[in-house]
Amino acid sequence: MINKLKDMFKRVYKCEAEKVFFAPGRVNLIGEHTDYNGGNVFPCAITFGTYALIKKRTDKKIRFYSENFEELGIMEINIDDMKYNKEHDWANYPKGVIWVFENNGMKIDSGFDILFYGNIPNGAGLSSSASIEVVTGVVLKDLYNFDLSMIDIVKYSQKAENEYVGVNCGIMDQFAIGMGKKDKAILLDTNTLKYQYSSIKLDGASIVISNTNKRRGLADSKYNERRSECETALKDLQSELKINALCEINEDVFEKNRHLIKNEVCARRAKHAIYENQRTLKAVKALENKDIKLFGELMNKSHISLRDDYEVTGIELDTLVEIAWKMPGVIGSRMTGAGFGGCTVSIVKDEFVDDFIKNVGEEYKNKIGYEAIFYVAQIGDGARKL
Ligand code: GLA
Repeated sequence: MINKLKDMFKRVYKCEAEKVFFAPGRVNLIGEHTDYNGGNVFPCAITFGTYALIKKRTDKKIRFYSENFEELGIMEINIDDMKYNKEHDWANYPKGVIWVFENNGMKIDSGFDILFYGNIPNGAGLSSSASIEVVTGVVLKDLYNFDLSMIDIVKYSQKAENEYVGVNCGIMDQFAIGMGKKDKAILLDTNTLKYQYSSIKLDGASIVISNTNKRRGLADSKYNERRSECETALKDLQSELKINALCEINEDVFEKNRHLIKNEVCARRAKHAIYENQRTLKAVKALENKDIKLFGELMNKSHISLRDDYEVTGIELDTLVEIAWKMPGVIGSRMTGAGFGGCTVSIVKDEFVDDFIKNVGEEYKNKIGYEAIFYVAQIGDGARKL
């Protein structure tokens, strides 16, 4: 793979790549739409990801090329001109990271040629954008010897997404991608950024990611809408409760104070975030106690809450999950990521995985009219130089 990419670099830039970097994608097992509400999430890095090959330049040009968008060719941009430009399309993600680095006083005085190649299915909700952001951060740190921790890079990448790309996302994706570890999921408290690794030993079961193949159109504006609905609910609760984030309260406190939230839709959004946060903690405990069955039940409840209260699923995700629930060997299944299309994550007993893929695939195609794609997920390490 790496040799193929090096040949590609030579073909595109007519010179040899000096260094190779990689950042994974991520799949979230449970804890959805809690990360901008101060709650817990439980994602892991996967072995699909984004490769970046670079060669430093002596002038002030940065040249960007992605093998995934070869029709857009090489884009040449001056270091001093990192402002957002719609025409730069995908390159706005790495540009955004460079912009954040520069705004934080980091001096990038000479440019580089960079080639990206990603094998995360695009638009599938497995964080291809956070992956390209974090890999860019790791490249910059290495090229210019910046004194930054991985968590700094994670924060800068999130900032690029929030302030440059304009998606008001939480920190989960960039964190999982930067800090992931092979065979481990990360329980991250997004309020304090305290985290712990949890071994994923599923005792004869696998994590299956199913892609609805529905592109996440309009997802970004809907995402920002959910976020502001949660903020409205929080403001209403703050009229009586001393809290800074929704997930600081548990289910009981929420039920006792729900009446403070004036808008019924906002109340349901808050309910999801608060219950989902508690479910995440229960799910991690269940895993520690080797109670995979309970873990699966909590995944199913998470989906129902995302479907009914948070309303971020849609017919494709619901169909895929509801078919999965009926299949033998399925321990749990839910949508993963932002929603509105993208992927589901299921835990399936190993001996049933082949049948699962065949039967869920057939029924989905009959109902929705096009195919889903399935991947048995491998949990890999976080972003790094190769
Ligand atoms: C997207 C965002 C994350 C998180 C999830 C939902 O992936 O980038 O920050 O909010 O949606 O859990």
